[in-house]
Amino acid sequence: MALLNTKERYGTLLIAIHWLTFWVMAAMFACVELHENFPKGSEIRSSLMTWHFQLGLTVLILVLVRLVVKAMGPDPDIKPALSRLQYLSSKAVHLALYLIMLVMPIAGFIGRTLAGKTTYFFGMALPVLLNKNEDLAENIFDVHGLIGKAAYFLIAAHVIAGLYHHYAQHDNTLTRMLPERKKS
Ligand code: HEM
Ligand code: HEM
Repeated sequence: MALLNTKERYGTLLIAIHWLTFWVMAAMFACVELHENFPKGSEIRSSLMTWHFQLGLTVLILVLVRLVVKAMGPDPDIKPALSRLQYLSSKAVHLALYLIMLVMPIAGFIGRTLAGKTTYFFGMALPVLLNKNEDLAENIFDVHGLIGKAAYFLIAAHVIAGLYHHYAQHDNTLTRMLPERKKS
């Protein structure tokens, strides 16, 4: 199986990054949802948020690598070809998912910096380069929270579309994004 994308299917690198990103994001969402269950100031609550931050920043690194990998090969064709509407809506959802993976971690990091807080990335303190502005930080987190919630619906739509292609339309959309099965 090719390392990079070909016209027939996604390459090993993009497939690995796609599924790794999925698990990292699942853990990141779980941390931020679970932290609410613990009292303010408790160690578990703050460590769940620390994990939300560092997994979120991991998503940023993964998406930057992914964009380079994606640029190095073509987008594989879907067979049979999609209708114009399906093609455009899938592109719109993918673009939105890319924007979430890029903008959300940057907004989260900038928000914390403006709140005067240091963010740690697996033990490494990231530099605080902006002056404190708590009002702006609050606005950023209002938007971060809203887009974060919208991301659940977008991801759900993406997953349903992937399964619909496979089980209802019987095209190769999903199999192109799965590791190739050995021919016996
Ligand atoms: C792909 C990346 C990210 C996504 C999808 C994401 C998503 C979310 C979601 C869904 C929430 C909960 C919103 C709510 O319940 O109202 C949240 C809260 C939060 N996130 Fe992120 N996040 C990401 C990365 C980051 C990063 C990298 C940081 C900081 C370095 C960060 C900082 C925060 C903070 C401080 C909150 C709590 C905000 C509050 O108090 O309401 N996030 N995020
Ligand atoms: C956090 C969750 C996920 C995110 C952020 C995400 C993001 C993306 C993005 C941005 C693409 C475009 C591929 C590219 O050209 O780079 C893509 C493709 C794809 N994803 Fe996901 N994905 C997620 C979860 C899933 C899950 C759970 C499935 C299972 C059904 C799935 C199935 C697919 C398929 C089949 C494609 C290929 C679609 C096509 O080429 O038209 N994804 N995903």
